[in-house]
Amino acid sequence: NYDHVPVKTRYSTNPIYKNLNNNPRETLEPVLNFEVFEDDVWIVTYPKCGTTWSQEMVWCLMNNMDFETAKKVDIAERSPYLESALEVVEKSKGLLRPRVLKSHEEMQLLPMELWTKKPKIIFVVRDPRDAFVSLHHHYKYFFGKAFKEEKEQFIESRMKYGNFWELALNFYAIKDQENVMFLSFEQMKKNLKSVVLKVSDFLGKHYNEVQIDQLVDHLDFKNMKDNPACSHKQELELVRKIKNIKEEDIVEGETFIRKGVVGSHKEELSEEFLKKIDDWQKSYLEKE
Ligand code: A3P
Repeated sequence: NYDHVPVKTRYSTNPIYKNLNNNPRETLEPVLNFEVFEDDVWIVTYPKCGTTWSQEMVWCLMNNMDFETAKKVDIAERSPYLESALEVVEKSKGLLRPRVLKSHEEMQLLPMELWTKKPKIIFVVRDPRDAFVSLHHHYKYFFGKAFKEEKEQFIESRMKYGNFWELALNFYAIKDQENVMFLSFEQMKKNLKSVVLKVSDFLGKHYNEVQIDQLVDHLDFKNMKDNPACSHKQELELVRKIKNIKEEDIVEGETFIRKGVVGSHKEELSEEFLKKIDDWQKSYLEKE
């Protein structure tokens, strides 16, 4: 019974659902029925909210601070993006445990066993205005000059789709459950070390001060930007190959780890448009 799956999701732009017809069994089942283990750690976010940053933090905490591997092996291998492709779903099944998995999925579409096996789930939220700006750059980074959509027009279409707040509010509602941690990009920017300590504690890990400081340094914006295993190089190469994006079509200066600041929207969006976003936010927040 797929009644709990929202109809609009069946037309999601998510690659795994792109051929979705009226047969949810074929397309939704691999993720909905994905086997969950109690010792998994799940990182769930709306895109561009600090997913990679949190994945890197959690992976290192879960893997005895193995910074060498963290610099060598692509983050997509170490912590797969579950619903990005059927092959990834398959690969994730056999990942060495404890697994660190990433998903951008709506709550109703996440594997059903998440709610019975209750592994640790870390949800990361960000000011949606900054996340949307970041997402626009993300498209330019992946699709190059072919991606021409104006920033505000692009954001408006995302707002209509509306699942930023649905996702965030659904996770906010369960934030006090023992296996759930609710974090924000802004908290990480404000005091990364205190977030690292909190997450380490949540994961039941015990590291000394030197190790924690090393991790904070490893997660520093510049160090992560310089770490090729965190730039989504593999994914980028694949997308560029599939889309046939040539070297000369790459937009200069666009990188996955881009600015890493709070408040990008102030410089990149007009007053008038920010008012529109404000009204959109209110329509969700006032319902609560
Ligand atoms: P910006 O585009 O605003 O710079 P995600 O991993 O969810 O796609 O999020 C990407 C965003 O997180 C990008 O935001 C990126 O720069 C930022 N980010 C990644 N690593 C970071 C770090 N170590 N410090 C600060 N921001 C970071």
